[in-house]
Amino acid sequence: MKRIVLGVSAGIAAYKSVLLLRLLREAGHHVDVIPTPSVEKFVGNATWEALSGNPVTADVFDAVDSVNHVRLGQQADLVLVVPATADLLAKAANGLATDLLTGTLLATRAPVLMAPAMHTEMWQHPATVANIQTLSDRGVQLIGPAEGRLTGTDSGPGRMVEPEEIFARATAMLSEPLLAGRKVLITAGGTREPLDPVRFLGNRSSGRQGVALARAAMDAGASVTLLACNLEVPAPLGAEVIQVGSASDLHAAVFEHAPGQDVLIMNAAVADFRPDTIEQSKIKKRDEHSAPVISLVRNPDILAEVVAARATQPELPPLVVGFAAETGDAQGSAEDYGRAKLQRKGCEMLVVNEVGTNLTFGQDTNAAQVLFADGRTPVHSAGSKLEVARVVIEQVADAINRQQTVTQ
Ligand code: CTP
Repeated sequence: MKRIVLGVSAGIAAYKSVLLLRLLREAGHHVDVIPTPSVEKFVGNATWEALSGNPVTADVFDAVDSVNHVRLGQQADLVLVVPATADLLAKAANGLATDLLTGTLLATRAPVLMAPAMHTEMWQHPATVANIQTLSDRGVQLIGPAEGRLTGTDSGPGRMVEPEEIFARATAMLSEPLLAGRKVLITAGGTREPLDPVRFLGNRSSGRQGVALARAAMDAGASVTLLACNLEVPAPLGAEVIQVGSASDLHAAVFEHAPGQDVLIMNAAVADFRPDTIEQSKIKKRDEHSAPVISLVRNPDILAEVVAARATQPELPPLVVGFAAETGDAQGSAEDYGRAKLQRKGCEMLVVNEVGTNLTFGQDTNAAQVLFADGRTPVHSAGSKLEVARVVIEQVADAINRQQTVTQ
């Protein structure tokens, strides 16, 4: 039996939370329902109390003697918000505590799962998009919304996913996490190779995918060290974050932090070349026409070096995952190039992203193939970078289990 807080905000989909409550109770969990004040316009407290078997209030000033707004969140193993309206998401993203549910969301340190439900226009509004991003960056898990019939005759994205699906996800969140007790080292972002004190050669990696991987690994119970190369997005709370600049810095940081890790995920876009000299002062125009010639030297291939170094340093991670951004051309597809790269680098897994001018870099959606060195059928994944990250992390957990079965 686990203690679950079922937060309900005031949308028509509240009637579906009644079924979710039933499923949670049938599974033997203790459920405290916390509706927002307007929920009673859709479902009354009598329903929540009868089905949960516990007293129900939306008011911070009820049961003050037991400090309800802190206690319920502190005791919870899992907090659900079903449905999560645009208003509730905005309050939670901004840390407001105007009622018992929003107060509980601030007080809890338990995993939180929210199921957004609202009209399409509200879901797609930049304010809601930003709130979702904030909540997701903080580790709140989101499920849906689905596309389909909304309150009236209209339909589109914004429909709450069905209670059975939310129940399955909640159950998975309560079970032993896939990477419990595992240590994961992730490189994210893009390296910058300095030319002089103000300029660098860089690349277009924003770090979104690497941050999503860190998030997904932490959600799966891992402790994560993130080597952050010039991220454009905030690093996730809860990871140990080490800022890294150039490929040479990253090389040093990887070899410093990799020993003792279970997995190394090389997601950073590492520059293959760097200027052979870094000018100590700013490069100036010397006359009207001339331009400097920059000569480049090769950077080390960090991933390939880690794989090779395992032969003499057994404390390096037994599982190394590479990433490759490939475009495909007349000679071969992105997957063909990925396969060749997997073999060349010698790592256990390679995640191939297909890139073009508007694909992958800086975008929040992604399509990827996970390739395996042992020749297993690739696993395809598409969706938000977090969804792709979850698939990669599932495959990492699976690969660790397979390695252990072999060594036993
Ligand atoms: N990588 C690395 N060190 C480098 C370059 C790349 O560790 N100097 C890692 C990346 O983090 C990634 C994988 O190797 O996980 C593949 O990166 P990619 O740039 O696609 O590989 P390259 O060997 O540079 O191949 P290409 O010639 O296609 O750029």
